[in-house]
Amino acid sequence: MTKPLISIEALARRYPKHGGGETTVFENVWLPIEKGEFVCLIGHSGCGKTTILNVLAGLDQPSGGVVIVDGREISGPSLDRAVIFQGHSLLPWMTVMGNVAFAVTSRHPHWPKDKVRAHCQKYIDVVHLTGSEHKKPAELSGGMKQRVGIARALAIEPKMLLMDEPFSALDALTRGSLQDEVRRICTETEQTVFMITHDIDEAMLLADRIVLMTNGPEAKIAEIVENTLPKDRSRADVHKHANYYALRNHLLDFLVTRSKNFAVEIAAGAYDPRRPPVVRPGERAPAQPPPPIDAPRAVSA
Ligand SMILES: Nc1ncnc2c1ncn2[C@@H]1O[C@H](COP(=O)(O)OP(=O)(O)OP(=O)(O)O)[C@@H](O)[C@H]1O
Ligand SMILES: [Mg+2]
Repeated sequence: MTKPLISIEALARRYPKHGGGETTVFENVWLPIEKGEFVCLIGHSGCGKTTILNVLAGLDQPSGGVVIVDGREISGPSLDRAVIFQGHSLLPWMTVMGNVAFAVTSRHPHWPKDKVRAHCQKYIDVVHLTGSEHKKPAELSGGMKQRVGIARALAIEPKMLLMDEPFSALDALTRGSLQDEVRRICTETEQTVFMITHDIDEAMLLADRIVLMTNGPEAKIAEIVENTLPKDRSRADVHKHANYYALRNHLLDFLVTRSKNFAVEIAAGAYDPRRPPVVRPGERAPAQPPPPIDAPRAVSA
């Protein structure tokens, strides 16, 4: 097996408790992410999803464990890892072009202005904002602002894109069309993505693998669900696939029931946090070979 691009190893986060002691938000989180993979993390509020993303971004320090990117331990933020937050976090005094160019210039300080402009234009076009280059954030809709955030993140051509519920503040129509665009862009550019979402349908559309976390405190990766829908799925036809309901029901059942009771599953089986179970809902178990014939068959007289 090739070395993963990102390797999360034995990650833990603890906070001091009021009145003494510590609370462990999550512990022993292990997850390799391959180059070009789209991974979604799902879990209930407070289980530590944003904390894990912030550690990946280099914005937070874990209490234990490490994150290795391309063979090196993360020690702080880097332009190799672009973050798209829930709020767009654009610079309000700059235009669309200015916001994207600001990021590109930080990445390539020696590029001439023309080259920066042409590079930014490419990504502004990709997110369908052509014609709005000179607008400031206040003149844009919520969906358009979020597109600028996506263009800005992609324009620095990061090794990894980190997204924390990037569409949750948008109306359903805008969310849907942005999901389609993100899927198209990430597939075309083979972008490696780590995304947090609360939305099962969003995860099923976008992710190659869906990582399920148990409830906190002491949250863990319970299971890794491989997406059993075809690669060329789209929002319009995803529900027509034979595996759709099996996958959806599996994710829903985890969030509604199993995420709370996972300790019982751990106690009952051989759970190994380094290798959480991998499941492929909707796919039949591999066919079993027929049992050996060890008794003479009855022969009719
Ligand atoms: N500075 C802090 N001090 C103490 N506890 C903290 C601090 N920051 C975060 N926490 C706790 O860590 C836990 C995980 O927070 P985090 O924001 O990662 O959760 P989350 O899974 O992203 O939740 P949500 O789905 O609501 O965004 C929470 O229970 C939170 O109370
Ligand atoms: Mg969060």
